[in-house]
Amino acid sequence: MDTITIRMPDDFHVHFREGELLRRLAYLVAQQFGRAIAMPNTLNPPIRTVDDAIPYRDEILMHSGNGFQPLMTLKLYPDTTPEVVRGAHAAGVVAVKYYPEGVTTNAEDGVSVGRLSELYPAFEAMQDIGMLLLLHGEMPGVFCLDREAAFLEVLRRLCSDFPGLKIVLEHITTAGAVEAVYTLPATVAATITLHHLELTLDDVIGDKIMPHNFCKPVVKRPQDREALCYAVTSGNPKFFFGSDSAPHPICAKECAEGCAGVFTAPVAMPRLMEFFETLGCLTKLDPFVSQFGAEFYGLPLNQGTLTLVREPWIVPVEYAGVRPYLAGRTIIWRIAE
Ligand code: NCD
Ligand code: ZN
Repeated sequence: MDTITIRMPDDFHVHFREGELLRRLAYLVAQQFGRAIAMPNTLNPPIRTVDDAIPYRDEILMHSGNGFQPLMTLKLYPDTTPEVVRGAHAAGVVAVKYYPEGVTTNAEDGVSVGRLSELYPAFEAMQDIGMLLLLHGEMPGVFCLDREAAFLEVLRRLCSDFPGLKIVLEHITTAGAVEAVYTLPATVAATITLHHLELTLDDVIGDKIMPHNFCKPVVKRPQDREALCYAVTSGNPKFFFGSDSAPHPICAKECAEGCAGVFTAPVAMPRLMEFFETLGCLTKLDPFVSQFGAEFYGLPLNQGTLTLVREPWIVPVEYAGVRPYLAGRTIIWRIAE
């Protein structure tokens, strides 16, 4: 039987949720990743200060176990002051996430792009202390397929106004975003999800409506998907893995106003292995999942390892009432016991 062992990877963008979903699903992340960035909008209300972040970190820890380390973030609000930023950083919070208002789940109360300059004192403080700014890079109010492209001017402005601030453009979906991240200075990087590497809009609305493939930002055109594949297989350290695994109960996906979010946690590493192997780029997987993100965040590389075995399995159609990505499909690699 084939086995492959790599350095323990990290997932730089996860929605752990709370309550039962957190309790029953956190192990799926912890069994294949050493660390994960816990998104702050995953709670309702979202994580606003260190006083929200620390209890949430403890709750994730309680349900993940096994040496797993959640990395905490705050959601940017109009009252995110330099003091809030410094206090959070002192307690180990690693990043602040900016959601333009209304752009995705639990972002109705986000700061509007037009008022971002009011948060410059917070960005200044983050730049000083080495805290990262994570961006949900979509411009509200723009036609959905063009939202990411329209947001790139905001990225460029932030990058030139804060040349020392580390910025991650999250879950990029377009050739334009790949190009922008390539050409901007080394302070700018991007996360890429598994599903954006595999899907196009045809997999959401090309035939029947496939709500479990619907996410924000929505998957785009074939040429965009190809650009993302090129980015991850080129070995450029600006591009690293963030799954954006975002579980929603089946009833919240299969309904008239379904939530955005693809639940990829159950299949993440096995499917990435298959994906890179099929492209003949297996040597590029380890740095994409285990090295580039840690280096950009200034974290030590994980010491442990993850072993996968070539042992086909059928993805269950449900985990705790949530339909996973590739439900019912056969996956070639499995995480070793
Ligand atoms: C995320 C969620 O469900 O929390 N959904 C998604 O489609 N990615 C929110 C987000 O990260 O935008
Ligand atoms: Zn997300």
